[in-house]
Amino acid sequence: MIKQSAHGIFIIPMRHDDSMQLNSIENLIIRPLNVDDENAFNLAVSEFKNNEPGWEFAFKYEQTLIFSDYVQMLERWALGRDLPDKFAPNTFLVGVIGKRIIGRVSIRHVLNDYLSSVGGHVGYGVIPSERRKGYGSKILNLALPVAASLGISRLLLTCDDDNPGSIKVIENNGGVFENLIQDTNSMKMKRRYWIEL
Ligand SMILES: CC(C)(COP(=O)(O)OP(=O)(O)OC[C@H]1O[C@@H](n2cnc3c(N)ncnc32)[C@H](O)[C@@H]1OP(=O)(O)O)[C@@H](O)C(=O)NCCC(=O)NCCS
Repeated sequence: MIKQSAHGIFIIPMRHDDSMQLNSIENLIIRPLNVDDENAFNLAVSEFKNNEPGWEFAFKYEQTLIFSDYVQMLERWALGRDLPDKFAPNTFLVGVIGKRIIGRVSIRHVLNDYLSSVGGHVGYGVIPSERRKGYGSKILNLALPVAASLGISRLLLTCDDDNPGSIKVIENNGGVFENLIQDTNSMKMKRRYWIEL
């Protein structure tokens, strides 16, 4: 960084601090939500709510909930406990760079009737302001070994036929197209893909 002063030009060495990591995909990790994430999580939730209200970033989340209760509820869901009606046991992980939540991924451990036709094993989302930077593809990529560790050997991924970003995320991760079906709930056409783990 070069800074001009009244006395001439000084070269200011770059400091390796948090702000330099903000947009670096190498620093993107996925991990469980924890109690320190409340502000970052609310920012991500609000961004989705304001820009894409139809897509559920955080299942069963209300900002009026006690955040630690929500974190514990997610932990119970991962153990298959206290699941809402029609929910499969699932692991909910946030995609994080530093303290910022960039996106999330939800991995369903088993497929029920709906999931095996329409929903698939995995749902992912990236906050609207951070799209088209490779984060969606990397979040799914990081989720693959997690799914394998949950005992899943063939991962079903589905996406709307009119969602080019999601199609690419799946294909970037080696998804093999199986077929196109109609979602009888939304009446949308869904693409179904498989990834061998
Ligand atoms: C789908 C989604 C996760 C993609 O996230 P992302 O961070 O933009 O994904 P990436 O940056 O990895 O993009 C992957 C590819 O898709 C392309 N892409 C992304 N959005 C696109 C769009 N709206 N139109 C066309 N191409 C798009 C990117 O350019 C990139 O192309 P490349 O691989 O040739 O470079 C994001 O748009 C999203 O959260 N959408 C809402 C939720 C959703 O639909 N989730 C998926 C269903 S579960």
